[in-house]
Amino acid sequence: MTVQFEAGMTGRTGPAGRDGSQPDCQRDGEGLSGIGLALLAAAAMCVPFFGIGAKVSHDAWWAIESVRLEKEEAARAWQRVVEAPALAMVPVDRAAHGRDVFLSACILCHGADGRGVDGLGRNLAESPFVAAQGDEDLFKFITVGRPDAKPVAMPPRAGRTDLADADLRDVVTFLRGLQDPRRMPRLPEPVALASPAPTEQDKAKALAAAGGDAELAGYIAHGTTIFNSTCIACHGAGGLGIAGNGKMLKNNEFVRSLDDDGLLAFLKKGRDPSDPKNTTGVGMPPKGGNPALSEDDLLDVISYVRTLQDKKTAAK
Ligand code: HEC
Ligand code: HEC
Repeated sequence: MTVQFEAGMTGRTGPAGRDGSQPDCQRDGEGLSGIGLALLAAAAMCVPFFGIGAKVSHDAWWAIESVRLEKEEAARAWQRVVEAPALAMVPVDRAAHGRDVFLSACILCHGADGRGVDGLGRNLAESPFVAAQGDEDLFKFITVGRPDAKPVAMPPRAGRTDLADADLRDVVTFLRGLQDPRRMPRLPEPVALASPAPTEQDKAKALAAAGGDAELAGYIAHGTTIFNSTCIACHGAGGLGIAGNGKMLKNNEFVRSLDDDGLLAFLKKGRDPSDPKNTTGVGMPPKGGNPALSEDDLLDVISYVRTLQDKKTAAK
């Protein structure tokens, strides 16, 4: 009976037993699953120390067990939310705006329904992490992101410098309703978020890049704002790239190798990780993950991306 108890206990406390801090009988006990009469004899010799051994073993076991239980509890955070009586409905105007921001900034990696995109961001609708964070902590998380996450980096503020704190707080409100549909009021139809207005600097740059052609400059300036709302999360400001995400688009060989039609076809299709031409193992989603972009939007983005190529080598 003693032997059985020892074996059971040490089976669970293996890692603690290995640190050598415990009486010999513990370490002997560890070998019991392998068995052998010699070990049985050793265990028998340990019997006088059994009282102490069991205490130490129990404490170590409990330390490990409580970490495990804590993890299990944490993993159930979302289930707990939906099993508990529903909290108050979220305010409809804030949830609607949060949804619109989500569809502009988060859709790329978390999908239109917030249930994640294979190879990019996770399911937020059922995320225990989201369920366990208070509103303020969740807001802070979004401002910081997880720049070292796998398979791609989640950039601070989803890479969007144009979004105000109030926008991101509304996203938090939206996520509450997404996690618990009982709290989500019926939302009005989505409104496309205006792409950030081109700055004077953007306009001046566009005009210079267009060689003074005002019409082309208008396309480039519009393309800049589309880039800064959709592509920037993975390709970084100015197309300089983000570690762990999309490639650098400045002076990019692939961009130079294609004409506008070729690039448009590429942008519409993207490049799945299963595509033999994929070099990073991360997917470039169709339309950069933003299905709301029209062909004209994409052509304007292309005009902008052309300005990131050195003049003398740019394709025409
Ligand atoms: C470029 C891709 C990308 C964009 C854009 C992005 N995320 Fe993420 N996000 C990720 C990845 C990848 C993870 C998972 C990180 C990990 O596994 O540690 C993540 C994780 C999260 C988590 C934690 C989920 C969990 O269960 O741990 C939250 C919350 C979140 N994102 C919210 C947002 C919101 C809100 C937006 C829009 C404002 C957004 N993300 C935009 C890639 C992205
Ligand atoms: C969710 C992340 C993500 C978004 C958003 C995104 N891309 Fe990409 N993009 C990638 C990844 C990853 C690659 C590299 C794929 C590979 O390994 O070949 C890539 C590749 C590219 C390439 C080919 C570069 C090369 O050298 O092969 C171009 C051009 C490009 N993206 C343009 C864009 C444009 C324009 C937008 C916005 C409309 C955009 N991307 C949005 C992730 C993204």
